[in-house]
Amino acid sequence: MDISIQELTKIYPNGHKALKDINLEIGNGMFGLLGANGAGKSTLMRILVSLMHPTSGKVLVNGMDLKKHRRKVRSYTGYLPQDFSAFPKLRAWEFLDYSARLAGVKDKRKRRDEIDEMLEEVGLYEARERFANNLSGGMKRRLGIAQALIGDPKIIIVDEPTTGLDPDERIRFRNLLTKISSRDVIIVLSTHIVGDISSTCHHMALLRNGRLVYDGSPEDLIDMARGKVWKISASHEQFDEVSVHFNVISSIPSVGGWELEVVTDSPDGYNAAPMDPNLEHAYVYYMEHHESLLEHGNKIKTFV
Ligand SMILES: Nc1ncnc2c1ncn2[C@@H]1O[C@H](COP(=O)(O)OP(=O)(O)OP(=O)(O)O)[C@@H](O)[C@H]1O
Ligand SMILES: [Mg+2]
Repeated sequence: MDISIQELTKIYPNGHKALKDINLEIGNGMFGLLGANGAGKSTLMRILVSLMHPTSGKVLVNGMDLKKHRRKVRSYTGYLPQDFSAFPKLRAWEFLDYSARLAGVKDKRKRRDEIDEMLEEVGLYEARERFANNLSGGMKRRLGIAQALIGDPKIIIVDEPTTGLDPDERIRFRNLLTKISSRDVIIVLSTHIVGDISSTCHHMALLRNGRLVYDGSPEDLIDMARGKVWKISASHEQFDEVSVHFNVISSIPSVGGWELEVVTDSPDGYNAAPMDPNLEHAYVYYMEHHESLLEHGNKIKTFV
């Protein structure tokens, strides 16, 4: 499977430019779309599932123009909208039965087996007879995930899927996606939480104010932050000063003061030890520096 997004722009009727000239190639496996609130993630996802047309530009799925082949592509796409809600008067399993029928699973027995399996996968088997409106927030979210995954979709678009899940469920969901991502499928996952971009995600992009500012691997992003992450030992008196001057990622109280994780080119003047960057550090560093990184001819495919 492949999705090719070409010169995509979306301007809402009120004049707001939500996506600006996006070019992106997505292949099999898990693709993570990271961006702050309002960056344009949901807008892009709604276009990918043909709920909305772009203002200009196009999307090709396996070479087919989405505009011309909307129904066909939809038939093998599973989608979890950010604001998902199930029909309140259906039981959990009934809702999945409905979703499976929409996804083209015609055989009743096959549907029943798939539903049971999916209910197990998302931890809703015990709750299968409950009406959707009697489920807790996190359980509704899991039902949403289940309806997006049922019927073996080839393209899975999940918009902030982990919102409202507890830590155990988050891990379970990540493992489920990892399992699915080894098949011939594309998973597009949007999030504003860096930690949701899991180790199985080899391709990621950063959206900022409707622009794609990074397109590459998490490892390459981390590499750019090498030598830029520091642990500063600060006294109580220095705490405010450090917070003003630097981007503090975390602060842990220590004997006589604080241990502060800081992202900066140089921690000059402070008692600092270098640290290995993780994706969160890299994200913070890149968001602050991408313009100058690009000016200096960074070879990573990026568009500002
Ligand atoms: N129907 C609409 N009309 C006008 N502007 C809109 C509409 N929908 C979204 N926007 C604006 O477009 C921008 C992108 O919105 P979008 O929902 O795509 O962001 P997002 O990255 O999904 O954010 P979040 O993390 O909060 O879900 C925002 O500034 C938003 O206010
Ligand atoms: Mg959104």
